[in-house]
Amino acid sequence: MNTAATKEKVFYLTTPIYYVNDVPHIGHAYTTIAADVMCRYKRMQGFDVFFLTGTDEHGQKIQQSAAAKGLTAQELADRTVLNFKDLWKALNIANDDFIRTTEERHEKTVQAIFKKLLDQGDIYKGTYEGWYCVPCETYVPESSIGDEKICPDCKRPLQVMQEESYFFRASKYTDRLLEYYENNLKAIMPRARYNEIVSFLRSGVHDQSISRTTLTWGIPVPGDDRHVVYVWFDALINYATACGYIDDPEKFRKYWPHVHHLMGKDIIRFHCVIWPIMLLALGVTPPVTVFAHGWWTVEGEKMSKSKGNVVDPFKMVELYGRDPFRYFLLREVPFGLDGDFSEAALVGRINSDLANDLGNLLNRTLQMIESYCGGVVPAAERQGPLEEEIEKFALATLQDVDDRMADFAYDEALKTIWAFIRRGNKYIDETMPWKLGKEGASEDLNRALNTLYRILHLSALLIAPFMPDTAVTFWHQLGYDDDPQARGLAGFDWAAVTSGQKVRKGAVLFPRIDMAVWRKEKDARDGAKKAQTPPVASLPEDDDSKHEPLIDIDAFSTLELRVARILGASEIEGSKKLYKIAIDLGYEKRTIVSGLKEYRSPEELVGKRIVVVTNLKPAIIRGVESNGMLLTAGDGKEGRLALLTPDEDVPLGSRVR
Ligand code: ME8
Ligand code: MG
Repeated sequence: MNTAATKEKVFYLTTPIYYVNDVPHIGHAYTTIAADVMCRYKRMQGFDVFFLTGTDEHGQKIQQSAAAKGLTAQELADRTVLNFKDLWKALNIANDDFIRTTEERHEKTVQAIFKKLLDQGDIYKGTYEGWYCVPCETYVPESSIGDEKICPDCKRPLQVMQEESYFFRASKYTDRLLEYYENNLKAIMPRARYNEIVSFLRSGVHDQSISRTTLTWGIPVPGDDRHVVYVWFDALINYATACGYIDDPEKFRKYWPHVHHLMGKDIIRFHCVIWPIMLLALGVTPPVTVFAHGWWTVEGEKMSKSKGNVVDPFKMVELYGRDPFRYFLLREVPFGLDGDFSEAALVGRINSDLANDLGNLLNRTLQMIESYCGGVVPAAERQGPLEEEIEKFALATLQDVDDRMADFAYDEALKTIWAFIRRGNKYIDETMPWKLGKEGASEDLNRALNTLYRILHLSALLIAPFMPDTAVTFWHQLGYDDDPQARGLAGFDWAAVTSGQKVRKGAVLFPRIDMAVWRKEKDARDGAKKAQTPPVASLPEDDDSKHEPLIDIDAFSTLELRVARILGASEIEGSKKLYKIAIDLGYEKRTIVSGLKEYRSPEELVGKRIVVVTNLKPAIIRGVESNGMLLTAGDGKEGRLALLTPDEDVPLGSRVR
């Protein structure tokens, strides 16, 4: 379907609307940042974007939570919504609208939709009895309840509920929805979720109970106000309300054919089964894509208030800055898979990707433009083969980023951008402008600095959706006064990047974080936090003196270990022990130097899958730059040394933990 429509360059993206009984944490931040990055990217590609987020304020969970705090539900909602709005400001979220389900525009829309479906016979009245989970706001099917009668999701006790209820005739539309999915393979992403939903649909969908008489905190059913509308039926409609379904049909016609919903995998049944069926019943096309991302744990554990390990995004912004936090969340974990949050890993990324790769490229280049050209970007007379290669690399990067973003593969897009940035750093080493400066080779020097400037120019634009503040600072240092995001990426022309700009070398963008200092500060923070939380029975103290000092999981997670394949091994002149080894990490190819020559022939190595430390500082060994280290075991005596290799065929680049 939508092929003609998607060419129209209109894009509508939503996050879930978050419950107001909880303070926002990194999970909420994750979805909203991802949505923000996508919308900024689309805007830079010339799309007319509508970006919606908001809060889900009705239902039993909110009512009970308010009562426990001695507040009315509305009071609780009014307070909590401010936390969300403040967080979006702190994270630089540029949403176009913020919807609260207690707003009049929404209540009106829900009632209108309810009435329409009732009038056309798709809603009917009946009785419902079942096991109900209050925290999850959902009846749990008999088939997934054991003897203990606890909720399979949250493990809390279920209650039997019986009530008169309105039902939505979902069963009637199951086949049509299946047909829609069969014709729209990207309507649910990633693919595993698509398969999961399609097989669920094939097993049949029951009619859904969509009203409650057991609570008052909800939107009254039109014409029968003993009932309030079930919170999920109410909440899903927010996407239509804000798009003008009732109030602004023109807006709805414009944006709806381009609607994409982003969320965690926890709520896809509602979004991929119930919601599209509601839309089909209304005669409205289901969403173009529902994308379900993975679940964050923290330091290996599920986040929970009782464990006291809920990561506060405000705190992360305060400690590390919002751009590094945004970058980390999207770079660390393939979008769609689960991930584990650790501050040590965040600091690792700041030091390697931001300070070392990106910050260095900018500083080294601006420094050289100042030293050799009085701070004015020189013109290049003509391109050499290296510059032509880099131009090709730049254009391929743009295309690749666009392809990755089309699939919500943020981490892949970032890897592609960073491969380009690293290419820039390598180009400095290849051209050695300081040598050219000394030799007075001004044509070569100008060409090198001009090329580096172009690399920075494009890098600033590419990182802008992910790190908007950084891009602005970067852009300013490059001597521009406009806004990189307004400049956009649509129609980017490598050749059009000119010379003559006066660069403004400024403060270092990402100062390196000293791990020892950081560790001390973190321990002090954790100590303070522990002192605040009630004491927990602790394990007997170990006598540390007998052991090597223990590290915690943070220290381990600063190591980035990944699966790679050996593409080839070659000798290094004058070395008896070393090979220069080309490896493929899936997302990039690298060279490492390793002392395997006494143990393996090149033929024995080619094709081997190995484990590599990928975030080692590059080192020049015997004149060869080594970017990583491969893992081996054994002491090498009697010519024996083992290469570590994965025992399953996992994809190249897979993280080793
Ligand atoms: O479900 N990892 O709201 P909610 C990743 N009101 N993402 C996480 C996460 C984690 N650990 N924890 C939360 C609701 N999220 C309903 C939605 S929509 C019509 C109604 C994110 O406050 C993720 O996007 O429980 C998840 O889907 C959402 O927060 C759930 O937020
Ligand atoms: Mg939830």
